Amino acid sequence: MRVLITGGAGFIGSHLAEAHLKIGDEVYIIDDLSTGCLDNIKPFLDDPRYDGKIFFSEDTILNHNVMMELTGICDIVYHLAAAVGVRYILENPLESIKINIYGTEKVLELCTKFKKKALIASSSEVYGKHLHAPLIETDNIIYGPSSKFRWSYAASKLMDEFTALAYYRNKGLWVTIVRLFNTVGPRQTGAYGMVMPRFVEQALSNEPITVYGDGNQTRTFTYVEDVVKALMALMQTDAAAGEVFNIGGIEEISILKLAERIIKELAAALERPPLTAPLPRLWQAFEAVEPDKVKGHGGNKLVDVIALVRHALNPAKLLQPFPITVQQRYRVWLTEQAEKGVSFTAQQQKWLDAIKDHIASSLSIDQDDFDYAPFNVMGGLGEADALFGDKLPTILEELNVRLAA
Ligand SMILES: NC(=O)c1ccc[n+]([C@@H]2O[C@H](COP(=O)([O-])OP(=O)(O)OC[C@H]3O[C@@H](n4cnc5c(N)ncnc54)[C@H](O)[C@@H]3O)[C@@H](O)[C@H]2O)c1
Repeated sequence: MRVLITGGAGFIGSHLAEAHLKIGDEVYIIDDLSTGCLDNIKPFLDDPRYDGKIFFSEDTILNHNVMMELTGICDIVYHLAAAVGVRYILENPLESIKINIYGTEKVLELCTKFKKKALIASSSEVYGKHLHAPLIETDNIIYGPSSKFRWSYAASKLMDEFTALAYYRNKGLWVTIVRLFNTVGPRQTGAYGMVMPRFVEQALSNEPITVYGDGNQTRTFTYVEDVVKALMALMQTDAAAGEVFNIGGIEEISILKLAERIIKELAAALERPPLTAPLPRLWQAFEAVEPDKVKGHGGNKLVDVIALVRHALNPAKLLQPFPITVQQRYRVWLTEQAEKGVSFTAQQQKWLDAIKDHIASSLSIDQDDFDYAPFNVMGGLGEADALFGDKLPTILEELNVRLAA
């Protein structure tokens, strides 16, 4: 079977692509990489087992000709491409509305033209300001005013649903709609406001965790593989045509409790928690986890997701407590270099300044908070190990290797 995934280089799309490749399907992906990332699918593009099985078009779903060609070739279409994440929507309001409304309309129009099955990704956000749970598909919907652009995402997804249902009723299109609840797992980035990776990244960087509102709003979290299974199953279920489905976990948690739990679980996982180097795409780290170690995480319990965080943080690589003497060693070493007439390149100087700032910020904190100091000034773990190792010059040796590379 040939499968088209719009937004296939994104978080959920890349997992869906992987699942279809694994069962021998051909996968076609269109993605403009606005919030997605080539790294998410590169392993499959480079994998000889999938030679001639995976095709990637870096393009927008608003490109009619490309979309026409791809929809014509494929048997089924998962439409996941969208402007996503509250922060992204707030920063790009007009573009977001266009992609979510015109983009979906294009998919529906072309699937109708070529008589292809379509699955449209909607969101639990369409329920708006509901305070009760569980939410059922036929619940009424309550939004804030149009002056608050935050609601445009929910409204655009709701409009997608109306349009899809209209195509089903008036044009006979086979289309099913899924309202995804918070989905979490490898390859998710916190960069666009996704709550779980953002909280974890903030906790790891020892930054305050940003909770919007009073934090009493509740959410569920679903592991991405469960979501993928649900999407694939729905595509194969005739009765799913013209229907809307919630896809979400069963464990409900308030955002405030989630923040507390992440802090607690991470602290426990790290035991003595000096923090690792920055992990801008934390979930990416899961890719390195040995599969047998994460067996059994397939449930959608929050605790399972957090367990993955523990695996991602290899305790052996965690930094040692910051030795106060480093500051003195640093000064002595700098003086020696000056006496020897050593001059530094601009890049080396930048590193040295970073080390100096780092020492200053680490020393200005209370001993009680010491373990939580922002140990993430420098680059990778290797460099950080060197930074906190016995000999400060090791950093420069590493730096030289790095600069020479
Ligand atoms: N992850 C969640 O928790 C969640 C919750 C509710 C709904 N959803 C929905 O699921 C779908 C996938 O979300 P995700 O979490 O994987 O997000 P994601 O940002 O990782 O994936 C969306 C992908 O669409 C691509 N894209 C955006 N605009 C495009 C355009 N004009 N043309 C081509 N590609 C474009 C992005 O580059 C990205 O790769 C989205 O429709 C989203 O609204 C996700």
